[in-house]
Amino acid sequence: MGELRSKITGTGSEPASKVVTNLELEGLVDTSDEWISTRTGIKERRVTTGEQASELAAGAAKKAIKAAGITAKDIDLVVVGTVTPDMVFPSTACFVAASVGVRAGVPAFDVSAACSGFIYALDIADKYVKGGAAKNVLVIGVDFFSRIIDWSDRGTCVLFGDGAGAVVLSATRGAKTGLLSSHIHSDGRKWETLYAPSHPHPNPFEKKTDHSKTNVKMNGSDTFKLAVRTMTNAAREVIELNGLKPADIKLLIPHQANVRIMKATQQRLGLSDDQVFSNIEKYGNTSAASIPIALDEACAGGLIKKGDVIILVAFGGGLTWASAAIRW
Ligand SMILES: CC(C)(COP(=O)(O)OP(=O)(O)OC[C@H]1O[C@@H](n2cnc3c(N)ncnc32)[C@H](O)[C@@H]1OP(=O)(O)O)[C@@H](O)C(=O)NCCC(=O)NCCS
Repeated sequence: MGELRSKITGTGSEPASKVVTNLELEGLVDTSDEWISTRTGIKERRVTTGEQASELAAGAAKKAIKAAGITAKDIDLVVVGTVTPDMVFPSTACFVAASVGVRAGVPAFDVSAACSGFIYALDIADKYVKGGAAKNVLVIGVDFFSRIIDWSDRGTCVLFGDGAGAVVLSATRGAKTGLLSSHIHSDGRKWETLYAPSHPHPNPFEKKTDHSKTNVKMNGSDTFKLAVRTMTNAAREVIELNGLKPADIKLLIPHQANVRIMKATQQRLGLSDDQVFSNIEKYGNTSAASIPIALDEACAGGLIKKGDVIILVAFGGGLTWASAAIRW
């Protein structure tokens, strides 16, 4: 029969509809297309004009379900990586499950790991599949940073965008294909590098509470250095554990945070330009959505064929970091 494993059988993505160019940001903060392009590789990003994160996530999920050749009734678990849910509760996963027509009773929950959220969700889904508790899992990454960034802070507002990406992870047996391994990590001691505080209403017994907004706060240069070091180490971990060499890798799909972070990671891993996927110029950093959107576009562009080895690697607030190897 062979060992029970998990395999991606369908992908889908849905970036937010409104395109905001660097030029348009010049009208909002003291910045320039030249600064943003050369420092980050970003030319434009997508921003919500009213659609909810769960709506985009459901759109991406429907495409992934169709591509997998199944129906929503076949889904038996929904896991969503996000730090920008529509509501405190219900979870985004509950909204998506209802919207795409997943059967009532199927478990659905969100995972909070910032930009590493999609690989965290994939790692959890894989364990359900390998343990025999789920056959078809909807794994989603979605984030709407446009709602939690300070649009007057040029150091952060130019970096992020809104979007959703999804995969169907299905049970398979036999040859060593599908998810080869995934690895998730955190270090809460470095939380202040990158965070977004939450300021709920104070109860009547609390002392003075901060009523400022929930804005992303980031130490840019510390984040940059940590991202390069951590993504390189995380990619090395999964590459070495699977006995792979740089030449075995068809495509590295890194979290799309900054083209210079991706380039430095690529160089340290000894990979060529055509082994690294980038679409950051169109979307900016979409947090948990960046990897599943990139994966969907790489598949649609014919860059991934049966048997190819793909490496996913991410880094984000928490701190969190994660990697995965997939034989397609
Ligand atoms: C944010 C980032 C692009 C800044 O690039 P950098 O080369 O490190 O630039 P610096 O921070 O040294 O800033 C240089 C100058 O540009 C200014 N600057 C910052 N944002 C700017 C903007 N949007 N437009 C114009 N100037 C800007 C700074 O104020 C600074 O000016 P100063 O020298 O007068 O103080 C970079 O640090 C980065 O990408 N960090 C990681 C961010 C990230 O990936 N976060 C998510 C991880 S999941």
